[in-house]
Amino acid sequence: MTESAVMFAKDNAPRFVEELKALLRIPSVSTDPAHAADTRRAAEFVAAELRRIGMENVRLIETSTPELILAYGVGPGLVVPARNGHPLVYADYLHAAPVKGRPAPTALLYAHYDVQPPDPLDEWKSPPFEPTERDGNIYARGAVDDKGQLWIHMKALESLFAANGGKLPVNVRVLIEGEEEVGGEGIAAFVREHPEQLAAEVALVSDSEMFAPDLPTLCVGLRGMIYTEIEARGARTDLHSGMYGGAAPNPFVALAQIIASLKDESGKILIPGFYDKVAKPSADELKAWKALPFDEEHYRETEVGSTVLTGEPGYSVLERTWARPTLDVHGMPGGFIGAGAKTVIPARAVAKVSMRLVPDQAPAETFALYKSYVESLCPKGITLEVRLIHSGDAIVVSTDNPYVRAATSAMHDVFGKDTVFIRSGGSIPIVGDFIRELGIPSILMGFGLPDDNLHAPNEKFLLANFHRGIESIIRFLENVGAS
Ligand code: BES
Ligand code: MN
Ligand code: MN
Repeated sequence: MTESAVMFAKDNAPRFVEELKALLRIPSVSTDPAHAADTRRAAEFVAAELRRIGMENVRLIETSTPELILAYGVGPGLVVPARNGHPLVYADYLHAAPVKGRPAPTALLYAHYDVQPPDPLDEWKSPPFEPTERDGNIYARGAVDDKGQLWIHMKALESLFAANGGKLPVNVRVLIEGEEEVGGEGIAAFVREHPEQLAAEVALVSDSEMFAPDLPTLCVGLRGMIYTEIEARGARTDLHSGMYGGAAPNPFVALAQIIASLKDESGKILIPGFYDKVAKPSADELKAWKALPFDEEHYRETEVGSTVLTGEPGYSVLERTWARPTLDVHGMPGGFIGAGAKTVIPARAVAKVSMRLVPDQAPAETFALYKSYVESLCPKGITLEVRLIHSGDAIVVSTDNPYVRAATSAMHDVFGKDTVFIRSGGSIPIVGDFIRELGIPSILMGFGLPDDNLHAPNEKFLLANFHRGIESIIRFLENVGAS
């Protein structure tokens, strides 16, 4: 059965790619209210396909817009709402035949249909929402993160249905969200409120990367995060900087001073208590990371493209990006950013600041430490509001379960190699909720590559990995069904 499903996928490969292109043409930018209708269209596109391939109980689940954001009363143009209540897509198939007298296990397949904004547009070689094939890759916003990988799940299911006379070898629930890129609060609430509707033995998440081309990879750790805004207010209204400069407080200067106090020049974060709960990776894990094929100079040159790499001394790049917390500033909306010059002292300014967290740093506790430190740095004449936009737990998943073996064996069949276990510096907030609320492990089997330009111009997905991903998921689901 597995072989005929794999054969079906191979025979239909060109069609699968054309369908993916149709999904990639929908600009489902979850953070942008102007794209709310497009985002819903992507959800409907995915739901229609789930119905067509034979999944049951296919439905959109609405998520609500949180009062939180409305309560801020933020001004136009300054702060974009963190989320807009994009729907979840749910489907299931729960008729798999029992194995060895026991009910078949259930796999919960997760992916996201929303994407990051495509800017800066002028750096794209082909337009972000006109998927284009070049040298074996498909270029588009969302190609790898996560529409291409979402489509891997869909096409693996379709191939299994086709090869098994309209049945699946394992019970499957599908839960796809449209707000991952803005923090995933909607799906977190649904998982918290309706765990019974998601009962499963294991979650399958394809939203991560392989360590290197041809190297089958399972991700076993993700960083958590808190995403914040600091709003500084000075004068009642914008002022002429000549008439009032020297008397009026400047909120941008205040933010600059605050930000400069968050980190020292070596990259160490200065928030009191920030590192107290940081757990070290095990000696085995550190040893395994040392054995990975990693060339720091090549990484600096080709991936980062900077003159030097920065960060805390005494830790390797993999440790710094996978197992150490960090703090970054993403943008400072406000004031005058148009062409030329305007002599104004802005009345208010915002800094978007996030921290990546590692086990066992708790998001709420870390936010409280950060907030009181920032408030203690407030210059005179300025009022501050420090707000939490979204947060998610750091996670590590155990490798000692039958689903990990189902995954490594599936990928061995496809890649002919043993799987490497890595962590990733990125965050997928729902994985923590699956552990906490559903009590199930996640298999993070992703098929992106380090040079796929996630969140950046010219995002791409290697088509060979799209097809190898489909075959890997087919074999994984067969293995889980047989276990
Ligand atoms: N797919 C990424 C996370 C990722 C990237 C995991 C690479 C593993 C390897 C995900 O879509 C993402 O970008 N998440 C956001 C989460 C945030 C908005 C809560 C992130 O990490 O910035
Ligand atoms: Mn993603
Ligand atoms: Mn992403």
